[in-house]
Amino acid sequence: MIGFIGGGNMAEAMLKGMLAKGMGDVLVSEPRQDRRQQLRQLYGINTTDDNVELIHRCDVIILAIKPQSVTDLAQQTRDADLTDKVIISIMAGVNLSYLERVFRLASVVRVMPNTPALEQAGMSVVAVNDDVAEGVLNLAIGLLDCIGKTLVLPEAFMDAVTALSGSGPGFIAWFVDAMIDAGERLGLERDIAAALAIQTLTGTAKLLQCGISPADLIKMVASPGGTTEAGLNVLNNSDAKSIVTQTLTAACQKSVELGKKLGG
Ligand SMILES: NC(=O)c1ccc[n+]([C@@H]2O[C@H](COP(=O)([O-])OP(=O)(O)OC[C@H]3O[C@@H](n4cnc5c(N)ncnc54)[C@H](OP(=O)(O)O)[C@@H]3O)[C@@H](O)[C@H]2O)c1
Repeated sequence: MIGFIGGGNMAEAMLKGMLAKGMGDVLVSEPRQDRRQQLRQLYGINTTDDNVELIHRCDVIILAIKPQSVTDLAQQTRDADLTDKVIISIMAGVNLSYLERVFRLASVVRVMPNTPALEQAGMSVVAVNDDVAEGVLNLAIGLLDCIGKTLVLPEAFMDAVTALSGSGPGFIAWFVDAMIDAGERLGLERDIAAALAIQTLTGTAKLLQCGISPADLIKMVASPGGTTEAGLNVLNNSDAKSIVTQTLTAACQKSVELGKKLGG
C-alpha cells in the first residue's frame, strides 16, 4: 500500500493522478478531521490521523508535509520500524543526508513534483544517493510516471529544480493573471480575457512540446514592423528577464535555506 503523510495540496495532486492510473491502494495520514473526510469523499481512499499506523501499514511512504513540520514528524515516528520501507520525500529543501539520518533503516528518495500532477501533466525530478538499490529508484520512477514526466538528476540540482518546475506553475499562473488584467484594461470582459489567455497558454505549450524552440516561436509570431514586435520591444527594453531571474533565484535560495535549517 502507498501512504501519504500529509494530505494537503500536493498529496492530493499526486494521489488523484495515481488513482486515475488505477493505483487504488492508498492511505493518507492527515491531522485535520475535515480534510480527511473531504479526501475520503472525493477519492474513496482510506485515511488516518496516526502516522505510526500508516508506516506500519504501507511499504511506500510519501512525505507530503511542509518542510517545517519534518522535525515534528521525526519525533512522532522515532520508534516506528522502517525496515524495508521506501520513503519518498517531496519536501522542498529537505536533503537526502537529513532524511537518511532521521529515517534510518528506510530507503530514501527525494522528489520534486509539481501541481500539474492533478491532471497527470506533472514534472517530477528524482534524486537518490548512490547506495540506493536500483529497484527502489525504479519503483519511485514508476509511481511518478503515473502523474506526468519524470527525470533523474543529481541532488545538487534540486534547489534549482524546485525554483523552476516545483514553484514554476505559480509563476506561470502569475503571468497569465497579469495578461488577463491587461486584457481587461484594453476593454475585454474578464472572463473573455481569461479564456483567451488560457487557450493561448495551452496552445503555446503544445507548440513548445512539439520541439519548436522559444526563440523560433517568437520569430514565427513576430513579423517585422508588426504588433508582436511592438510588444516585444517593451519586454526587451525592460528588466523583465532580470526580474524572472530574481524570482527563480529567490525560490532557489529559499530551498537552500530550508535545507540549512535542518542541518542536512
Ligand atoms: N504545493 C506545491 O506546488 C508543491 C510542489 C512541489 C513540492 N511541494 C512540497 O510538498 C509538501 C506539501 O506541500 P503542500 O502545498 O501540499 O502543503 P499543504 O497543503 O500545507 O499540506 C501539508 C499537509 O500536511 C499536514 N500535516 C502537517 N504536519 C503533519 C504531520 N506531522 N503528519 C501528517 N500530516 C501533517 C498539514 O495539516 P495542517 O494544515 O493541519 O498543518 C497539511 O494538510 C511541501 O513540503 C512542499 O515543499 C509542494
